[in-house]
Amino acid sequence: MYQFRVLSKTQYLSQVDRSHKKDFNPISVPERLLLGPGPSNSHPDVLRAIAQPPIGHLDPYYIDLMGEVQELLRYVWQTDNRLTLPMSGTGSSAMEATLANSIEEGEKVLVAINGYFGNRLADMASRYKAEVVTVEKDWGEAFSLEDIEEALLTHKPAIIAMVHAETSTGVCQPMEGIGDLCVKHDCLLVLDTVTSLGGVPLFLDKWKIDLAYSCSQKGLSCPPGLGPFTMGPRAEEKLSKRKEKVPNWYLDVSLLNQYWGSDRVYHHTAPVNMNFGIREALRLLAEEGIENAWQRHRSNAEKLWKGLESLGLNLHVAEALRLPTLTTVVIPSDVNGKAFSSHLLNKYGVEIGGGLGSLAGKVWRIGLMGYNSNSENVENLLNLFDTELPNFREKLSSAA
Ligand SMILES: Cc1ncc(COP(=O)(O)O)c(C=O)c1O
Repeated sequence: MYQFRVLSKTQYLSQVDRSHKKDFNPISVPERLLLGPGPSNSHPDVLRAIAQPPIGHLDPYYIDLMGEVQELLRYVWQTDNRLTLPMSGTGSSAMEATLANSIEEGEKVLVAINGYFGNRLADMASRYKAEVVTVEKDWGEAFSLEDIEEALLTHKPAIIAMVHAETSTGVCQPMEGIGDLCVKHDCLLVLDTVTSLGGVPLFLDKWKIDLAYSCSQKGLSCPPGLGPFTMGPRAEEKLSKRKEKVPNWYLDVSLLNQYWGSDRVYHHTAPVNMNFGIREALRLLAEEGIENAWQRHRSNAEKLWKGLESLGLNLHVAEALRLPTLTTVVIPSDVNGKAFSSHLLNKYGVEIGGGLGSLAGKVWRIGLMGYNSNSENVENLLNLFDTELPNFREKLSSAA
């Protein structure tokens, strides 16, 4: 018979592998002004909220706070949807939740792709065994109502998924009328509002959006970590009639709603401090008034656009389609875009983004989101472009 070998305490301790034990300094994060595609800087009150000591995820105080978060999310999204809650995960988790809870195997899902995140939607939908079909536009353009209706007539999908604010291109997709088309063609409408929530006018119910998702780290002035999710009555009815279980336990809204709804049944240990943060972020937005926040984003973006153009720079997107939260600036042909953005970060602690996918190396992406959308940041950034960019033009031409 096998004999267990009983080790003495010293024998146990001597077995510890110390090869990965390194003496690091206590953390000291550099100060940054985040004017890229996200995350954006968090509001100091939000950081203070997150630094509160954690409490239990079934504590009566926390249960009340959950209700406040849900109510405030309904306000900033302009929806009455009962199933509105923050997923414990980043925007991609909520993105995945909209698809996991609405797609049934073999269904046709139409994805409107005019940038990087449309491609991500198509990839995710295929993983839920949808038959994915696409309608596409160049990166920098938006879909017309006619484009969408033609695609709905051609493909007759069960679901259409599209991006309101394409962070890769800086395009704001006009949404009026698309929801009506979806009702007419008996199709659910999924909308990515990751770079629009809190910064761009959004009327989920008026626009007849069936499912939407967002993130915490952009227009809500919170760190990354939560993915606001909402589902309207048509999607809820479909969920209740599913033939198979939602093929993702963690993101199954029918299970999650037993915790977020009136039952308060344990599902997973909620990231309570992140929810303190989003509660405070949403409270601040409500105090400002959502329409005032939209207006603030618009006027700061217009000031940025004007300033960049007066420095001789071109913007990638036509003004009528430009996002107030994210501006794509064409990198002049005689400038090394990466060297310039690295210089801003290393010398001034200012982050701007580069292009993604087919726009890599062609544009800079400047975000003015949430707490960071203010005229002082615009002035400081324009000043840096004015004083620093000429040095980068000179360097490239003298090296040539
Ligand atoms: C439009 C869009 N959708 C989805 C995502 C994914 O969100 P996250 O990175 O928080 O997972 C992003 C991230 O920036 C985004 O910009």
